[in-house]
Amino acid sequence: MSKANTEKWDVVVVGAGPAGYVAAIRCAQLGLKTLCIDEWIDHKGNSTLGGTCLNVGCIPSKAMLESSHLYQQAKAGFDQHGISVSSLEINVETMLARKNQVVQDLTQGIKTLFKANNVAEIHGRAKITALDTIVISDRKTRKKIKKVKAKNIIIATGSSPVRLQQAKIEDDYIIDSAAALELDKVPGRLGIVGAGAIGLELGSVWSRLGSEVVLLEAMNDFLPLTDKKLSNIAKRSLTKQGLDIRLNSRMVEAKVKNKKVHIVYEDKNGEHKEVFDKLVIAVGRKPNSDRIFGEELGIEIDERHSIMVNEKCQTSVPHIYAIGDVVRGPMLAHKGSEEGVMVAENIAGNHHVEVDYELVPYVIYTHPEIAWVGKTEEECKTAGIKTNIGSFPFAASGRARAMAEAEGQVKIIADAETDRVLGVHIFSAQASELIAQAVLMMEMQATAEDMALTMFAHPTLSEAIHEAALSVHGQAIHIKN
Ligand code: NAI
Repeated sequence: MSKANTEKWDVVVVGAGPAGYVAAIRCAQLGLKTLCIDEWIDHKGNSTLGGTCLNVGCIPSKAMLESSHLYQQAKAGFDQHGISVSSLEINVETMLARKNQVVQDLTQGIKTLFKANNVAEIHGRAKITALDTIVISDRKTRKKIKKVKAKNIIIATGSSPVRLQQAKIEDDYIIDSAAALELDKVPGRLGIVGAGAIGLELGSVWSRLGSEVVLLEAMNDFLPLTDKKLSNIAKRSLTKQGLDIRLNSRMVEAKVKNKKVHIVYEDKNGEHKEVFDKLVIAVGRKPNSDRIFGEELGIEIDERHSIMVNEKCQTSVPHIYAIGDVVRGPMLAHKGSEEGVMVAENIAGNHHVEVDYELVPYVIYTHPEIAWVGKTEEECKTAGIKTNIGSFPFAASGRARAMAEAEGQVKIIADAETDRVLGVHIFSAQASELIAQAVLMMEMQATAEDMALTMFAHPTLSEAIHEAALSVHGQAIHIKN
C-alpha cells in the first residue's frame, strides 16, 4: 500500500470500485491531489481494489460464463462442425483458479494505474466525521489508522446483496451471488431466488455445467425493464436451455436440513415445496450508505437508502459527491464510471461534462445475450409517443448462420414524427458488443434513416442492426418487409 504522505487532499474518494477508482484516476489526471480509500479484502485475506465488479461481480461472472459456455459448446455445439469430443470433463477447481487469476490480474492492474497516475491509496474503513474530515480505521479491529482532510469528497461505496428474512444466508447452503461464484463442485439441484440479471447469469453458469436450475421469481413479468417482445423471446430460449423459470413465485421459507435446503414458495395455486443442494439469494442489491457519515452532516438519504444527489452527483453538501450504486439510477458499473468522470471534471472546473441517463446500455450475459439502450415499445406507448418499428432476425444473417448463432433478433424503435432512434433492443450472440454502435448512433441523435444509410461490413452480426434500421421504413433487403 502506498503511503499517503500528507493529510490534506484536493479529493478523497471512498471506494475503489468502477465508480470510485475511475473517479480517482480522472481526478489525478486533471492535476488534483487524490487519495482513494477502500476496505475490500479478497478470499485470501489480502486488501484489493476493484470493488464488487472486479472481485465478485461483473468480471468473475464473465469468466465463469465463458468457461461454462465453452464446456457446453464442447458437449453439444461442436458436433455440427464435425468436431467430436470423446471424453469431456470439467475440472471446477481449474475453472475457479482461472477465474481467480483473471480477477487478480485486473485488480492488480488498478493498483498499477493508481501508481502510474499518482493516486494514493489507503486500505481501511472510511468515515466522514466532519465536512472536510475523514477518519480511516481498521475494518476488523476498528482501530484508527489516520485522519485526513479533503477539499472534496466522493462517496463511491457501492451496494450489497439484499438479504431475505425468510431465507437467511447459511454457510455453504443458502448463499449470496459472491459465494455462488465459488462453488467447488456442480450442485445437483440449484435453487435461485430472483430471476434478474444476477439470477439468470449464475443460473446459466451452473446449468451449463450440469445443475438442474430452478429460478423463483416473485413478479409476474420476466425482466420487466426489457422490451416485452425481446423478454418473451429470451424467456423461451432460456427455458429451452433448461432453466426452469417460475414466475409469480414468492419465497416463503428456506431451512437447511440434512445438508439440503428445504424451501416453501407460493404461487397462484398455493404453496409448494422444493429441495435443493444449494439456494442462491439474488433478489437485488441495496446501496451501502450506512456507516459512512453521521446524520449531523446533513447528507440526505432517500427511502431506498440511496444517497440523494443532483444531476451533477452533488449531495446536499455541495463539495461532497456520491456516485455509482450508492445513488439513484441503475446499478451498473459503466454508469458509475461515467459519473466518476463527470464528478472529477466538475471538481476540476469543467462544468459542462454531464451523464446522459437516457443512454445507459443494459446487458444481461446469458447466451444469447440480452442488450438494450433507450426506450422500450411499452414506454413509448405509455408516454404517448408514436413510433415506427423495425426488426431483423439473426436467422436471416449470413454471418450468424455461419457462426451457428442464428437465434434472436434486433428491434429498433424510431419516433414516427422525427425518425430519431428512441431505442434499440438486441437478443443475440455478442449483443453486449453490438449495442455499443446503437449507443453511439443515439448519442449522435441518429435517425433510423441515418443508420440505414450507413455502410456495414459484410458478413457481420452488425448487419442485423443495419437491416433492422432499413426495416423501420419497410426497406430491409434480406427479409420480406
Ligand atoms: P434485480 O433487481 O435485477 O432482480 C432481482 C429479482 O428478484 C427481481 O426480479 C425481484 O422481483 C425478485 N425477487 C425479489 N424478492 C423476491 C422473493 N422473495 N421471491 C422471489 N423473487 C424475488 O437484482 P439482481 O439480479 O440481484 O441484481 C442486482 C443489481 O446488479 C441490479 O441492479 C442489476 O442491474 C445489477 N447487475 C447487473 C448485471 C449486468 O448488467 N449484467 C449483472 C449482475 C447484476
